[in-house]
Amino acid sequence: MAKKNVSVWTSIPFWRRSAAWVTGFAVVLLIWLSFDTLGQISMGTDEDLKSGVTKRVPGPTVINYNIDYKFSKKRGSEVPIIGDKEPFFGKEWSVEDAAALLHLGKLTSQAKNCMNCHTLLGNGAYYAPDLTKAWLDPTWEAMGYFGQKTKEEGIAHFLQHPAENAIHTRRMPNLAITPEEAKGLVAFLKHMSSIDTNGFPRNFSKTVEQFKQGGTNAR
Ligand code: HEC
Repeated sequence: MAKKNVSVWTSIPFWRRSAAWVTGFAVVLLIWLSFDTLGQISMGTDEDLKSGVTKRVPGPTVINYNIDYKFSKKRGSEVPIIGDKEPFFGKEWSVEDAAALLHLGKLTSQAKNCMNCHTLLGNGAYYAPDLTKAWLDPTWEAMGYFGQKTKEEGIAHFLQHPAENAIHTRRMPNLAITPEEAKGLVAFLKHMSSIDTNGFPRNFSKTVEQFKQGGTNAR
């Protein structure tokens, strides 16, 4: 009997084998990508900051440094620039104290459910402004830090008395935040602003420019 000339495209074993190979390749790729991501999102250390190693998520002691936000032509988005040291609430924070303060801020943000109204790194609700780069918002300076001496004290003051210090038309309710919790939250916000988010939220710098040119609000 003559062998039938069957096209490979109609052969069932061919498709079975292809499916197995494609699935296998995708599994390997996903495992590799997961490990790659872990490296990208793991927090840096104090040594990284001291030696100028750029980590996507800097260590907690980044609160001891000035943070700027500049457009990078190469990246096509804004990138946080960690500059010179500056006091935070009047002092330089040790590795342990900075980590503890940041932890308190994170716990407070969860306990008071900031995400119920705000987005943090894009996650949360859309009632109030995204807080990812809130530390860099020029509104604080424009509001004269609400009569406080420094930006951190100004934001802490706002967080404890948001209704009396309205910036936008929508008011943030008073969440009974203690002075210590407010400090932690400001550290949390400052740290978050130092995270390289590939330019998220988009056009933050543009709105800042418009604001500086005489707009009434950055967002
Ligand atoms: C019930 C909703 C609600 C909750 C919960 C809430 N906020 Fe707000 N927040 C607002 C609104 C509305 C505004 C805008 C009000 C204003 O600017 O006067 C605001 C403004 C802010 C701003 C100013 C943002 C900027 O750049 O102009 C910061 C910072 C802030 N909130 C932080 C927090 C933190 C931290 C928490 C959690 C502890 C929190 N908020 C919880 C509603 C909320």
